[in-house]
Amino acid sequence: MNNILVTGGTGFIGSHTCVELLEAGYNVIVMDNLSNSKEESINRIKTITGRDLKFYKADMLNISEMEQIFEENQIDAVIHFAGLKAVGESVAKPVEYYNNNITGTLNLIDVMRRHSCSTFVFSSSATVYGVTNKAPYTEDMPTSATNPYGYTKVMIEQILRDVCVADPSWSVVALRYFNPIGAHHSGLIGENPNGIPNNLIPYIAQVALGKLEKLSVYGNDYPTPDGTGVRDYIHVADLAKGHVYALRYAFEHKNFEPVNLGTGKGSSVLEIVNAYEKACSKEIKRAFAPRRAGDIAVSFADASKAKKLFGWQAQSTVEQMCEDSWNFTIKNPEGL
Ligand code: WQD
Repeated sequence: MNNILVTGGTGFIGSHTCVELLEAGYNVIVMDNLSNSKEESINRIKTITGRDLKFYKADMLNISEMEQIFEENQIDAVIHFAGLKAVGESVAKPVEYYNNNITGTLNLIDVMRRHSCSTFVFSSSATVYGVTNKAPYTEDMPTSATNPYGYTKVMIEQILRDVCVADPSWSVVALRYFNPIGAHHSGLIGENPNGIPNNLIPYIAQVALGKLEKLSVYGNDYPTPDGTGVRDYIHVADLAKGHVYALRYAFEHKNFEPVNLGTGKGSSVLEIVNAYEKACSKEIKRAFAPRRAGDIAVSFADASKAKKLFGWQAQSTVEQMCEDSWNFTIKNPEGL
């Protein structure tokens, strides 16, 4: 069975994807610099699947560390999650973001070429739809960004498009994630950010645990049914399964293909808070606050291409996502 290198495989989406890859019968090699995750994820993945996997602590900016992985393993395809991903931080540290995400990816592509590996699934983001397109987003829409993090995703997609033009033996699927939330139903892996969470669900989880006092709802004056921001929340396990479908497609097709991974449905901040209160049977204290810079009112996917191309579609409800998130949180109150 094929050997898959998963960069960033100890992270939130990476670890869930490793579980799905192993359960689909692939052999998995993980590379991660552990800058925003814990090696404990590897043990949890082994416990969930009952299968072994190789782990290399390695950094995309260290070419010899990556060379060693390709010399020691026959890598048939790469799923590339590794990267810095905090929007606000990217505005404060643009050079670190461009260097880590873009130089790192160029290094990875170079090592792949030297080892005749040309099948690539890229962790892109709905952030590439920018602020000018109107939801539901389709993959043929123009891409843009409003922050260095978003620009790294736009630029890496362009790099991969150009690689496919220059070398027709390459196959790339760029998966544009909407808002991945939740956790594996075992509660052994989940969203485990360092420090105060930027994203909605991990912040709510900390409020539910009593570690944070209340949720600031960023804006209740958006042109949406209840005035709060609307997003396409997708269960991380559904998203992970989408990577296995994308990988199968990438093995059978050539060229560059952007594909949305979303549910095609939008939920508001208040709808999510209410769903979380039901999941944890606690009140989530909240207060309205001004809009957050860079936020848009509404973002959700047209999810039809993934269904047409891969036969994949998201299955879980928002209620299940919140229940699984809370189950992980109470089982890991201090994180992994
Ligand atoms: C969701 C909604 C906020 C926190 C970001 C990145 C995107 C992707 C996913 C990497 C918005 C509101 C949030 C809070 C709030 N990351 N909110 N109070 O901004 O849609 O997407 O994460 O790929 O690239 O941009 O996700 O969870 O931060 O916000 O009211 O404390 O919750 O305004 O409406 P976002 P989010």
